[in-house]
Amino acid sequence: MASAAAPSPKANMGAPAPRYDARLKVTGEARYPADVAVANPAFAVLVTSSIAKGRIERLDLDQARAVPGVLDILTYENTGELKPAKFGQGSSTSIQDLGPDIFQDGQIIAVVLADTFEAATEAAQSVKATYAAQAPSATFGSQGLNSEDAAKVSQQHEHLPEAGDAETAIGGADVTIDGHYGTPTQHHNPIELFATTCEWTADRLTVYEPSQFVYGLRNGVAQRLGIAPEKVRVASHYVGGAFGSKGTMTPRTAMIALAAKRLNRPVKLVATRDQGFTIATYRAETRHHIRLGARRDGKLVGYAHEGWEISSRSDPYVVAGVEDSAQLYAFGAVKTKVNVVHADRNTPGYMRSPPVVPYIFALESAMDEMAEKLGMDPIEFRRVNDTMTSPIENKPYSSRSLMACYDRAAEAFGWKRRNRLPGSMRDGEWLVGYGCATAVYPTHIGPAAARVRLMPNGDVRVQIAAHEIGNGVYTVLGQMAAERLGVGLSSVKVEVGDTRLPPAPVAGGSNTTASSCSAVLKTCDAIRAKLFHASVTANDGPLAGRNVEELTLTDGKVAASDGTGENLADVFKRLGMSTIEEYSEFVPDGLEPDAVADLYAGKLTMTGGPHGKKVMYAMGAELVEVHVHSQTCEIRVPRIVGAFAAGRLMNTRTVHSQYMGGMIWGISSALHEATEIDTRYARYVNDNLADYMVPVNADVKDVQVILVPEVDHDVNPAGVKGLGELANVGTAAAVANAVYHATGKRIHQLPIRIEKLL
Ligand code: MOS
Repeated sequence: MASAAAPSPKANMGAPAPRYDARLKVTGEARYPADVAVANPAFAVLVTSSIAKGRIERLDLDQARAVPGVLDILTYENTGELKPAKFGQGSSTSIQDLGPDIFQDGQIIAVVLADTFEAATEAAQSVKATYAAQAPSATFGSQGLNSEDAAKVSQQHEHLPEAGDAETAIGGADVTIDGHYGTPTQHHNPIELFATTCEWTADRLTVYEPSQFVYGLRNGVAQRLGIAPEKVRVASHYVGGAFGSKGTMTPRTAMIALAAKRLNRPVKLVATRDQGFTIATYRAETRHHIRLGARRDGKLVGYAHEGWEISSRSDPYVVAGVEDSAQLYAFGAVKTKVNVVHADRNTPGYMRSPPVVPYIFALESAMDEMAEKLGMDPIEFRRVNDTMTSPIENKPYSSRSLMACYDRAAEAFGWKRRNRLPGSMRDGEWLVGYGCATAVYPTHIGPAAARVRLMPNGDVRVQIAAHEIGNGVYTVLGQMAAERLGVGLSSVKVEVGDTRLPPAPVAGGSNTTASSCSAVLKTCDAIRAKLFHASVTANDGPLAGRNVEELTLTDGKVAASDGTGENLADVFKRLGMSTIEEYSEFVPDGLEPDAVADLYAGKLTMTGGPHGKKVMYAMGAELVEVHVHSQTCEIRVPRIVGAFAAGRLMNTRTVHSQYMGGMIWGISSALHEATEIDTRYARYVNDNLADYMVPVNADVKDVQVILVPEVDHDVNPAGVKGLGELANVGTAAAVANAVYHATGKRIHQLPIRIEKLL
């Protein structure tokens, strides 16, 4: 039945099937990696550094070793056999050693192993480290940072977008905007902590760890241990939140594997919440300088965007969101530059919508300022600069429904009630503001392989090492197989998240549904072809001599257009088979044929977004109402409306959930979230869920999601654009623009808190 959470499908949308794993999750039957029972485990507790820069001079382990039940303590003195893994090739950081050199606060310096978690905890607290500490550089404005041009140090971002002569265009423009923007450090904080359990059976290792890329983790761990990848299995059947934090290998995994080997006993680690802030990745703090030039009639003529992103001392992690922002409108000339700013911090990493969240906040804030300066409605300003051709290399869009999204959202929101004058709308003591911004996310696509089995009774099994991170992958893969093989969803068993299965890409870049569904579609079609061939080439039987083109597979029958059909069981008999099982590999256009072989080796190549012959993006429009109290400056978001188009939608329920969650996270990003840093020590202060601010129910009122139909035959065989990371893009700018509209104050630095408005 349709409800707000399960919208009725419109054109090119799949049914809102309830989640395949819903019952398992609510009944506690779903086993997350830390839930997997292993025999006689030892427990690991991490010790992390209390300085950000310097060297361990002495480690005193006597007191720790004396705690009853302590079995072993790993330190830099006994972990030399671990081999380094290169940053950027599946490893989250090059800060992998337990010392003696310290590059970040909270670097792992010891792993204490004991018979019980309590003993390990007590012993970990008894490890005494003496350091030679140096003053660290924490963040923008700190002494001792070093900055590099991203194009020179990050292979991935060698060619940043450029078109025409932006300096001249902006210099000669009728109207210009010149602004500086900033976004804070944020941490993913998935509710499931960073856990790893390792178990050896002879020379074979099994790793139970929540992962967004099991093949990447398998190969990374094998490399660090110096063993063949075939000896390692990674199992991650459910992931309790990730948002990018579980996409790359972090240093802990190889340490726990080594500990289990030394003890000849399974070892289990569940790192604490505060350790999660430093032993994994986070969203980097950013700064932006944007200049826009436009003609009087609103046509943009130039866009210049320079970004600065904080990274660790050792690694050039950078998101370079100009690669996407530069495609967004008919800018005319474009000039971009990105700088990596090295500080004494842990290496940042992917966090939901990594490139676009900070860069689109800056651009969409500047767009609002430009609209105002031009005296134009901000939606109309975007319409004037809407385009089906990217300003970079003039590539066509595969499809683009941005203005359809704005129109649908504006109507539902009642945008026309907006009085353009800032500070002009009120509700009692509250100032009312309406703001809008664009959401955009590149459609990525990667290679994937799948195995599918069909039985004569219509039972189906789908196997693919995709990842269930809350994205609904069990459900949508099941739906794809059910549709292609003509059975009910309840007949389909789906297996994911295990290196025993054929490989799929990282559950990142919102590519999962597109890539994995394309692989499952291809594999199911191979089964259909076998069945159809058997039916038409038979000497007898109802479909003998028919053309396969006119056949379909529905309700357990191969059927022709005139209704003539043959039961599956009969077709299987004809084939002399009890089961049909197919394996196939899907390689998207633009990738090398050996892309799947690379995937088996843990190496992922992806295409799409700005990279193909056409540019591919999912888009949306977000309209927000804010109330700002006239005396206290308290900020409220009574409602938000988002309309989105992302090609074929596999399941309107899971899509609705992704969009709603995304917009709520966007509100969080706008008003609440920031990791606070004590700059003296380059240390995170609010490294717990009590002090790390996120919105609660009272902060989120009316969230309306509109699904705008869109058909795109270019993106991939499934016609699916990635959307998991679409809806939290642009929200922060929409809120900031609404705050301006309410108060007349532009806040360029997130989060927008009361003190910034006072
Ligand atoms: Mo997502 S941050 O691309 O895992």
